Amino acid sequence: MTSLEVELFGIKFENPLILASGINDKTPEQWIRAHEEGAGGVVTKSIGIEPRKGYDNPTIVELPYGLINAMGLPNPGWKGFLEMVEGYTFDFPLIVSIFGGTPGEFAFLAEKLSDVADAFELNLSCPHAKGYGMEIGQKPENVYDVVKAVKDATDRPVIAKLTPNTDDIAKLGLAAERAGADGVSAINTLKAMAIDVYARKPILSNKIGGYSGPGVKPIALRAVYDLAKALDIPVIGIGGITTWQDAVEFLLAGASALQVGTAVSLRGWKVFGEISEGIERYLRKEGFSGVKEIIGLALE
Ligand code: FUM
Repeated sequence: MTSLEVELFGIKFENPLILASGINDKTPEQWIRAHEEGAGGVVTKSIGIEPRKGYDNPTIVELPYGLINAMGLPNPGWKGFLEMVEGYTFDFPLIVSIFGGTPGEFAFLAEKLSDVADAFELNLSCPHAKGYGMEIGQKPENVYDVVKAVKDATDRPVIAKLTPNTDDIAKLGLAAERAGADGVSAINTLKAMAIDVYARKPILSNKIGGYSGPGVKPIALRAVYDLAKALDIPVIGIGGITTWQDAVEFLLAGASALQVGTAVSLRGWKVFGEISEGIERYLRKEGFSGVKEIIGLALE
């Protein structure tokens, strides 16, 4: 029997594929759909203190090798989030993504949402929201302060989502680990833009967005490799994972689990089933009994 099950910070996932925070994870219906289609867990859209409408359209540009998005962190705020999930029970791990402008705001959100979250992912990496995301998360000392504040505020596992828009992502990962993070996830999107040559202006209403999808995969893979070499805590790989071969590459580079986001927008929900079937086939044919056996093999 080949097992796809992975266990991270004491939480069991049926398989290593997790719906990434991004474009397709605003509502409980989307989280349930992702699980029905084969995701082993879900990360929610990032939740902040106050409700935010997000940016005006256009918020997404499709390119040959991926997407640039700038949604503007639309979310119902923590109170609206609690109302939204009331009455639901989820039979898969629910990782709640949170964002704030200070360590205190992150800690406040973690405290308020601990009853509904199996774990928290800290958005320290959105590449374009003023006062949030990578404006904070590009500095190791800020990563340390935010993680420490959240760890003090909740017993739930804490994952720091890191930015690739930095000279050395391992420094950010090490700061998170020193502060007590249970894991890191990488990468968030690359700061990017697209211009309409006839309108002669940026396409996105926010002008600047974040690039994701197959085009960023080699960069994400290198980041995961660097982090897995430097850290003792689990690394969750994100960035252009679209096929089972992509997934296996990330596992070999040291990822203990994987997040899939843009592939859902480009190929549909069926990607979860396609990727996990492919991983299972690969493990069986190559003589491995489970995912755990191949994590980090390319690091040696
Ligand atoms: O625009 C957005 O909501 C993006 C968030 C992120 O990249 O973390």
